[in-house]
Amino acid sequence: MSALKKTAITSAPIHSLIRERWSPRAFADRPVEAEKLRSLFEAARWAASSYNGQPWNFIVATKSDPENYRKVLDCFVEFNQSWAKSAPVVALSVAKLKFEHNGELNRHAFHDVGAASATLTIQAEELGLAVHQMGGILPEKAREIFGIPEGYEAVAGIAIGYPGEAHTLPDHLKAPEVAPRERKALDSFVFTGKWGKVLPIVGGKA
Ligand SMILES: Cc1cc2nc3c(=O)[nH]c(=O)nc-3n(C[C@H](O)[C@H](O)[C@H](O)COP(=O)(O)O)c2cc1C
Repeated sequence: MSALKKTAITSAPIHSLIRERWSPRAFADRPVEAEKLRSLFEAARWAASSYNGQPWNFIVATKSDPENYRKVLDCFVEFNQSWAKSAPVVALSVAKLKFEHNGELNRHAFHDVGAASATLTIQAEELGLAVHQMGGILPEKAREIFGIPEGYEAVAGIAIGYPGEAHTLPDHLKAPEVAPRERKALDSFVFTGKWGKVLPIVGGKA
């Protein structure tokens, strides 16, 4: 849950956890309780995955452990460091690239890490926490800093905490923080029959 409401304007009813979730850059100066943090990763654990391969891994650090916190932050690009440093918890998601059962390349490894992260994010919303995922990371630096083995790859950064106040952000980040959430219309991506032919039930509404 985020202090600032950025409720999705939907064209069909959806669960309030999905409607209210958004990705803040401002976090409150308040630690996340250990049991809540554990619940987030438990939620990630129960995501669906190809062949139940569960290719997700998370490297996590809290501000109470400044050395490890700095190490995770160092794996984010500078822009992301500039705001993520206010989050009490930072993490990296890491994909296992091959299946354990046959050693073959798992074409859905990143997909499944994303699914686990999305599940984590929804659980966070339920617990009053906010999550901001980041593609802007330095995967090879993460490999070096954390000794991520061959066959695994850092996927995304994750900032977790209680939502903060937009006015605490640097000026250039204030406007995006309060801007309404935007999405493409359903009829631009839900098709039937052939590519580009809109599924009738999704047509006609924003
Ligand atoms: C895989 C992924 C990568 C992202 N990368 C970044 C990033 O590097 N920096 C950033 O500030 N936000 C990043 N975001 C946040 C998106 O910009 C945000 O989710 C999107 O604008 C939709 O906003 P909402 O989550 O508030 O609905 C990323 C989100 C995802 C899921």
